[in-house]
Amino acid sequence: MSDRYIDFANSSLGHRLVAAIGLPSPVRLERWQAGRLRPVEGALLLGGGALAGNVQAFAHKLTDAIYTYGAQTSTWIPGHGPKLKAVVFDASDLQHTDQLKQLREFFQPLLKNLDNSAHLVILGRAPESLSDPFAASAQRALEGFSRSLAKELRNGGVLQLLYVGDGAEDQLEGALRFFLSPKSAYISGQVIRLEACATPVEDWTRPLAGRKALVTGAARGIGASIAETLARDGAEVILLDVPQAKADLEALAARLGARTVALDICAADAASQLVEHLPDGLDILVHNAGITRDKTLANMTPEYWDAVLAVNLNAPQVLTKALLDSGTLHDNARVVLLASISGIAGNRGQTNYAASKAGLIGLAQAWAPLLQERGISINAVAPGFIETQMTAHIPFALREAGRRMSSLGQGGLPQDVAEAVAWLAQPGSGAVSGQALRVCGQSLLGA
Ligand SMILES: NC(=O)c1ccc[n+]([C@@H]2O[C@H](COP(=O)([O-])OP(=O)(O)OC[C@H]3O[C@@H](n4cnc5c(N)ncnc54)[C@H](O)[C@@H]3O)[C@@H](O)[C@H]2O)c1
Repeated sequence: MSDRYIDFANSSLGHRLVAAIGLPSPVRLERWQAGRLRPVEGALLLGGGALAGNVQAFAHKLTDAIYTYGAQTSTWIPGHGPKLKAVVFDASDLQHTDQLKQLREFFQPLLKNLDNSAHLVILGRAPESLSDPFAASAQRALEGFSRSLAKELRNGGVLQLLYVGDGAEDQLEGALRFFLSPKSAYISGQVIRLEACATPVEDWTRPLAGRKALVTGAARGIGASIAETLARDGAEVILLDVPQAKADLEALAARLGARTVALDICAADAASQLVEHLPDGLDILVHNAGITRDKTLANMTPEYWDAVLAVNLNAPQVLTKALLDSGTLHDNARVVLLASISGIAGNRGQTNYAASKAGLIGLAQAWAPLLQERGISINAVAPGFIETQMTAHIPFALREAGRRMSSLGQGGLPQDVAEAVAWLAQPGSGAVSGQALRVCGQSLLGA
């Protein structure tokens, strides 16, 4: 469903009217287009501590316009340098309260010189990994700073904080290729922890080449977009949906050259059927199929409760376990669970749905350490308001509130969720496990 308000606010008449009466003015976000090669098309400003040196080593692969404050070559001077498309500041060396002023000193001069849809990243060290309480406190301060600055950015700007674990420095390239590019257009204010990971990406133009991926609920909406994005990135995709969705599933499969599995994931024999359908095993498993049956708890029928818990939570648990136990899921596999910000913040009328989605986040957290030995990562992606058939059914006033109550002031697109899933599916993204990545435009819900 299209967002008519955003179309209006970006028309020449609408733009003036919206500004005159002080209404929110969301911009059209820049998104990744087919055929694009470089993550950053424009100027990248680098600064801060030692990790900025690690970034410098591969920065030329991100863009050919790299700047630093005050260095002899490529000095960026506020008001005189080009508008900035991307910024990386390494704050991992900040160990005392006094040093936190470096954040203000670095960011303040550049804030009025950001290009549209600019991507900012702060690097730090996870507070729980530090033994010095003052250093841990300084690193934790980065979280409050970055989440707040993300809320102050305009014109589609987004900002994330990456806590880089010891030995995870070589995973920065994959993370920055994602977080500095339009692939993360609808992600902001997030805190992500990177750990060491041995599996590298061989070819950044097809990072999923040679990998077999299963996407459930792939006939439409977010699932279809995930399938398209994984195929774009080189994966061999297998599309699963209920038998009633067979026509849509096969139409998409024909376009992608993919295989299909028509199966209700709640069927009694779903696990054994799935294992049979995957004789060559699986490298990427995306549990996207999900349903809503909204009612306040006072009016919730047992059927509504059971259906949502069965599809959204029980089926991913049972199927993942069967694929693990049967050896279908290969070592170094990537598992992604589609959760929701409802599972983080709670939502009126969604006790069943929010319980199921919170359960998925718990599943990722609990399973991650157990699967680490085999190099398998498992993460949840928690979308906010995404424009799909599911959200088109929400009553108008609630739908408008869902769209506007975020730092970016608009709903996301299925592509935004798909890009996050595709990033987590990369070999190098084993650096991230047991985490929940929100794709919500920094929704105010549960922030
Ligand atoms: N749209 C949003 O704003 C939003 C927000 C947060 C989370 N999500 C989650 O993202 C996922 C995709 O959402 P969407 O908006 O694309 O939904 P959608 O309703 O458009 O698509 C869901 C797909 O899952 C399939 N499916 C449902 N039950 C199934 C079953 N038992 N077996 C196999 N397939 C089944 C459906 O046939 C459908 O093709 C869901 O898990 C949803 O909860 C969506």
